[in-house]
Parts: sequence; C-alpha cells; structure tokens
Amino acid sequence: MAQTSLQLTPVPASAQSQPGLFHFDDKTVIVSKSKKLYKEADLFNDLLRQFYGYRLSLSTHPEKLPAHVNKIILQDNPAIQEEDAYELRVDDHSIQISSGNSAGIFYGLQTLLQLLPPEKLTACDIAGILIKDKPRFTYRGMHLDVARHFSSVAFVKKYIDYLAMHKYNNFHWHLTDDQGWRIEIKKYPLLTSVGGCRAQTLVGRYGSDLYDNTPYCGFYTQEQIKEVVAYATARHVNVIPEIEMPGHAMAALASYPYLGCTKGPYKTFETWGVIEDVFCAGNDSTFQFLEDVLTEVMALFPSKYIHIGGDECPKERWKHCVQCQKRIKDNHLKDEFALQSYFIQRIEKFINQKGRSIIGWDEILEGGLAPNATVMSWRGESGGIEAAKQKHNVIMTPGEWCYIDHSQSLNEDSVTIGGYLPLEKVYGYEPIPASLQPGEMHYILGAQANLWTEYITNPSKIEYMIFPRMSALSEVLWSPKESRNWEGFEERIPQLMKRYKLWGANYSNAYYDLQAKVVPLPKDKIGWSLSTKSKNDKIIVANSESQATATIYTEPVEIKKSGFWQAALQDENKKIVSNWVKQQFLLNKASGKPVVLTYPPSAKYAGSGGFTLVDGVVNTMGMSKSSQFLGFNGSDMEAIVDLGADTDFQTINLHAFAQPDSWIYPATEVIFYKSEDGVSFTQLATVSLPDARRNHIFQCNQAGKARYIKIKALAMKLIPSGMAGAGYRPWIFFDEIEIN
Ligand code: ACM
Ligand code: ZN
Repeated sequence: MAQTSLQLTPVPASAQSQPGLFHFDDKTVIVSKSKKLYKEADLFNDLLRQFYGYRLSLSTHPEKLPAHVNKIILQDNPAIQEEDAYELRVDDHSIQISSGNSAGIFYGLQTLLQLLPPEKLTACDIAGILIKDKPRFTYRGMHLDVARHFSSVAFVKKYIDYLAMHKYNNFHWHLTDDQGWRIEIKKYPLLTSVGGCRAQTLVGRYGSDLYDNTPYCGFYTQEQIKEVVAYATARHVNVIPEIEMPGHAMAALASYPYLGCTKGPYKTFETWGVIEDVFCAGNDSTFQFLEDVLTEVMALFPSKYIHIGGDECPKERWKHCVQCQKRIKDNHLKDEFALQSYFIQRIEKFINQKGRSIIGWDEILEGGLAPNATVMSWRGESGGIEAAKQKHNVIMTPGEWCYIDHSQSLNEDSVTIGGYLPLEKVYGYEPIPASLQPGEMHYILGAQANLWTEYITNPSKIEYMIFPRMSALSEVLWSPKESRNWEGFEERIPQLMKRYKLWGANYSNAYYDLQAKVVPLPKDKIGWSLSTKSKNDKIIVANSESQATATIYTEPVEIKKSGFWQAALQDENKKIVSNWVKQQFLLNKASGKPVVLTYPPSAKYAGSGGFTLVDGVVNTMGMSKSSQFLGFNGSDMEAIVDLGADTDFQTINLHAFAQPDSWIYPATEVIFYKSEDGVSFTQLATVSLPDARRNHIFQCNQAGKARYIKIKALAMKLIPSGMAGAGYRPWIFFDEIEIN
C-alpha cells in the first residue's frame, strides 16, 4: 500500500502494509498487563464514544479471553525509548501498540483512531500494517489568545483534544493582554474583577471608531486552571501560560495603576493594537507584583517553560519617567532597549531560581538576550536565526507561515486581521531556516501556529481558523521532512474534512475556493482568470449584475469596460455551491498599459508587479486583498506608465492603503510628473495626506497631455516614536493608478 493512500495526518515516519485484516467493532477488547496504560485506553475510549457512540471493554488478562475475540494490545516496550515514539502493528486478530513511554502509547492510539472510518460506523475492517513512528520535532505547539476574546473551559478542553489528536504536545495559553486579564491571582483580586472586564469592544476593523457599548468579561479561576492543566497533562500536552510584560499590560495597569509610569488613570483596553502604557521598569513594586503573580502561576502550571511575552513594548513612557530613567542611570544601561533587557533578565532570574525557564517573543533579543531564554520568533525567521546563532533555543512561529489568524481564503466574507495564509503555504513551512549551520539547527525545538482572537469571537470561528491549517502544520512538525509531500496531503483533504465533521468541528473549505485572478492579456488588455481545485464542480461566469446570464467558464474573460463580473461554482445538478465571487473593474486611460517600477515591491506584497497598478482593480471595498496591492518596505514607490501615445488627461489618481497598526502608513508626499519621451519629466503636482487611514487617494488635478506619467510616492524613513512599529521602516501600499 502506498503511504499516501493511508489516510493518516500527520503521516507516520514509516508504514508498511502487511498481510491481515482486523475486524474492529464494539466487541473488540483493549488488553494491557500494565495498569498505567489503562489511562491511555480510557482516553481512547472517551473519543471512541464521542465519535462512534461506544466504548471498548478493558482486560488485564488476555489469556482468559476466548481465542476469537479481537484485541488491541497495549504494551511497554523498553526498546522503544525515544519520547513519543511507538509501533503499531495490525494483524488478523490483534492490534499491538507498543512504546517505552505512555505518550508513545497515547500517540499510537491516536493513529488507530484515524484508521477508523471518518463516518459514524460501528464496525470496520482495518488492513494489516506495521507503523513505526516518532516525531521530527520535540516542540509541536498551538497557541490560543483568550485575552482579546475569551474561551470557556469546555472549549479549551476541546482545543486540547484537537491538539492531541494531531500529536501536538504544547498548548501556549495567552492569558493576559491589554484587553483582558484572564487568570485568577489570589494576591491581586482586582486583576480579574477590574482587568478581567472591558467596558466595550471595537466593532469591525481596527480604526473603525465604532464600539458595541457592551461590557466584555471573563477569567479562569485557579481551580479551572488546574482542571485544564490536568486535562492537558493526561493527553500529553504541556500547557505554557503566557503572562505579558512589559507591554500589553493595560488590563493589569487598569487594576493596579501604581504599576504604570504615569500612575493612570487606565482602563482595560477596548480596541486593538499597541499601547504606550506599559509596566514601569523603574519601580521595584512592579517587580514585586510580577514575582507574586508568577509565583502563583508557577504553582498552577508544572510547565518547564513560562512565557513572559516581551513583544511590542513601546519605550515612550520609560523615556519620560523619572523612575525608569533613574534605573537606566543606576544600572549604567545604554537606553530604553537595554532597560527592556534589564526587565526581562530580572524576571528570568526569578523564574530560573524556581527551576523554570522563560520563553519570550523575539523582541527580547533587543538590548541583549537573557542568558537562558528561549526565543519565539514571530516577526519572520530572523529573530530565531539570531537566537540560534547565540546558542539559544528557538520556537519558530513566523507570521508569514504560522499566523493562522490571517485569512485562508481570498474570497473571505468575514473580517480577519489581514494577511493571507492559505493551507498550502502552512504545509510548505520549513521550521529550520536554510541559513543555519548544521551545528545550530538543533536549537530549533520546533514550531507553533498562533491564533490571536481580535476578530475571532466564538468557538466555531476558532475551529474555522484552525482547520485544516493545524492539520497541515502537524505534519510539518511530526513527519520526516522527506516524506512531506503537498500532493500526498491534498489527497487526504477530503477525508480530513469528513473527520472534522465526525468531530462536530467547523472548518474552512477555502481549499476548494473559486480562485479569481486579474491577469494581463496580450495587447495591453486585462483578463479575469478563474480556477478551482474541485473536481466535480464547474465554474460559471457572468459579466453583469445578473447571475442568470452566467455561462460556463473556459478561458480568461477579457474586461472591455468598467463594471462588475461575477463567478461561482456549480455542481453536477447545476446547483450553485460557492459564494459568488465578484470583481469590480474601473477602466481608465492607464488600464492595462505597461508600467515600469523603479524599486521592487516587497516579495510578500509583490502582486503582479507593475501590472497590479493598472489592472482596473481599486480596493475601495472593506476587505483588503493583499494580492491586489503592491507593498513597499524600506523604499519609496516610483512608477512610470507608458500610455502608448500622447494622451490628454484631466486628473491622475494614486489609490493607496494605510493601516498603522500593521505598520502600513500613508506616503508622506506623492509627486506627479509627465513626459513626452520617458526621459525628461516635468513636475505636475505634489500631494500629501499625512493622516490618511485605510483606502485613500492622492489626486493630481493638473490637466495636460503626455505619453508618459511618472508617480513618485515617498515613505517615512522610520516610524516615529509613539506610533505602532516605532523605530522600524514603514510599509507603503498602493493598488491603482487611474488616469482620466
Ligand atoms: C505578537 O504577535 N505580537 C507576538
Ligand atoms: Zn517608569
């Protein structure tokens, strides 16, 4: 049997078919001589009952069972020493699962669960097989933010089940943030009574300035925390609590204003983003508070690792705080970055004294890494690479591949934080950066997918965001690199989706999406190209607002005038089985014309190069489809449009986009030029819109006649302090040049 036809995710390290056919039904008995493995059998039974409606009986005395009884035999095998490794052998009348550790037995049983049908059947035949399996990485993580939106204990347990069924072994629980403090701390009750609530929540996207006027509260009692930790531990999942510091601390500051530099007043934050108010690093009572909190946290969580955050801490308050400045002076620190390093190192020392280790986001590299810290690399791979080169352990979670709060569909119909992370991209992630030397690779412990919940308010949406992407990442983390194969994974997607249904879980169908793309056609024409991975459905397309006129799609349609096009998937019975994908085109004198870019856009937001600026698509709708923008980071934008012949024009519009919380800022200045020969240019106008948000237009109203139009948009050199991304280079984003 070819391995890819085995419907197991993650794919095991090795699997060979064997003679034999095991009949599995409710008469099957689980056998173990080791009482300790009963626990694993019980957990298997819990899932079996949940998905198939029955449990199997257990026996410690296989010799007393009649010969015809089919058995699942769990056994200690000291020869299989590696953590989490197991063997699973299916014969005619027995399934043997063996390992030197109970986690291995647990994982063998999870594999067995996937050998059962993806529908609720009471019996099935399992073909003979010998699986020898072990993980590639020791750290296989999933994160959940419960601060922005709270998840119930019941759902957190379900989330842990999902982790365990995919052989993840770490749950990173993001318990505190600006928008809510979610863990009871006995010594500081206001953390949950005040910090556990916000008065209201932003409605819609960041920057909307609309609020729901509804208090939002929630926290876990220490008893509940213990219950979740015990639940996870039984399932071989370690729970890593995250207590954010020095930034993302507004909920704590609202509860105890003495913890901030200005002493308040503060309130639990009601919108998203990065806030200047952070823990005061100069006041010893801040450290007393954090040590008290961490003492209670460490008593609740047996995890070796305690996550202390460390990300996105603006330095503005520290710059103007007498106590913080005194701390800098007394400790001969270079600047506020060194003060952040002092902060983290002081906390690390405390945590190390208790026999634990810290994890921090990659900002903890700034100003010098704490001696024993593990770095979680989120702003790309570079923090992880840097930390590994400094001989520190690393957990990779770069946004581009691991932020599953980003949308997985280009046809997304609900609000997400932005970005586009399709299934295939997650599957293609390689946690060991290519630039590491062989002696540095072992510092990469593994990787993790992060789920931030600003725009994720309920369990169903969480499931929609994690499935199927967490299944894809499980294979990155567990399976041997050489057996990872996208086509093999694709073959398993239909059955994975059946299994999510069997689990009662929501999931995203984005893999089958109707994919629409605006493409250049010969002779400076614009086309709309459509495709789908669905084998059974046909694409239909219509060029007006009337869907009734739709015809079967065969090749890219030429866009000849402004207006709507729309397309959908139709099944064999001519029933529409997808959303209608709509595209509005705004044709003008620049549409389809050749464009030369002086500076390349960032590879992440490269669209279709210069064509993206003249493809007839203006992003005035609420959803940002990043493929329809060009994004530049660290350079200006300069584009020259060749109109082909001398052309009269009245106005020139540069359509742009800004989202400061994502470090995308408006251009400081846009300069418009014209030219007869493409060599010597005359300036037409200079336009600036310093406070622009989201979609905005730089407009030149200087009429004229020319063959070439040049537009130069200047970016800020560095983001000023006090703004999101301070000290970094800003992004600038553009979607269209419109010449009328
Ligand atoms: C992060 O996403 N701010 C770690
Ligand atoms: Zn201070």
